[in-house]
Amino acid sequence: MGEKDVNYQFLLSRREGPVEYLTLNRPDVRNAFNEVVVSELSAWAEAMAADEDVRVAVISGAGSVFCAGADLTWMTRMAAFTPADNVRDATAAAKMYSTVDRLPIPVIARIHGAALGGGAGLAAICDIVVAEEHTTFGFTEVKLGILPAVVSPYVLDKIGASAARELFLTGMRFNAARAREIGLVHAVVTADQLDGRVAEYVREILSAAPEAIATAKELLRKIACRPVQDTIGLTADTIAARRASVEGQEGMRAFLEKRKARWDVSPDPDRKPR
Ligand code: COA
Repeated sequence: MGEKDVNYQFLLSRREGPVEYLTLNRPDVRNAFNEVVVSELSAWAEAMAADEDVRVAVISGAGSVFCAGADLTWMTRMAAFTPADNVRDATAAAKMYSTVDRLPIPVIARIHGAALGGGAGLAAICDIVVAEEHTTFGFTEVKLGILPAVVSPYVLDKIGASAARELFLTGMRFNAARAREIGLVHAVVTADQLDGRVAEYVREILSAAPEAIATAKELLRKIACRPVQDTIGLTADTIAARRASVEGQEGMRAFLEKRKARWDVSPDPDRKPR
């Protein structure tokens, strides 16, 4: 184990330099989320948010699929819970999605096999989603008599109301090409290309400025759903601060001086600075 690797019951966390690789690891039940997975994912995201050495995270699933969503055995047990305990449990899941969504580093989903229910929701909170071409997606909850709830704000944000109505209300499964068409997925590749495409995104991120990335991610969240007129102060203040920042100055000078910026640890020695 490396220095930054951490032991979890249902997660495998591995660190390679500034890159965190997280694997959902409950393959027997297709990496379904129970309360332990929810709590471990929250703890992982909190640890990532506090770790200044990590620049990007890649989430994948062990075994034949990425993630089959909520653990249905766990969900059926809720009938025996008090309403307050049931809500507390659902709130823990909602907070887990929010904590991952708010991570200041880019999060890449490496998806294969299937991403269903909360697993498709997990894709929706990742910044970049690369899917193997045969992956099955679906917000299948209504087929099970439940509904996509805690993931709904993130999914709506990604795929829009039209696709959300179609897919939430039918629970139908859809393929990777459709997932890309509606904005849930950014790249659809063959199984052989999956790791290579993820590595390309990682390389791009490692050549970009970490504070600038974190500020861009936060800005996107802050301006979502706000009328453009209301965003003028925020966007102007944000760029004013960034262009005078140490990173901003370094990045612009590095370009003008035709050299790599200090933060550029992308592994391609032939890459031209830009
Ligand atoms: N919760 C609990 N257990 C699950 C699960 C889930 N969401 N998804 C799969 N499993 C379990 C199955 O019950 C089965 O258990 P068993 O070995 O004790 O019979 C095991 O995982 C393997 O599932 P199986 O369906 O045989 O695997 P598969 O590889 O043929 O198909 C899926 C994988 C993900 C396509 C399929 O399991 C599936 O559609 N799951 C339901 C996903 C879903 O609708 N999720 C929404 C939840 S809100």
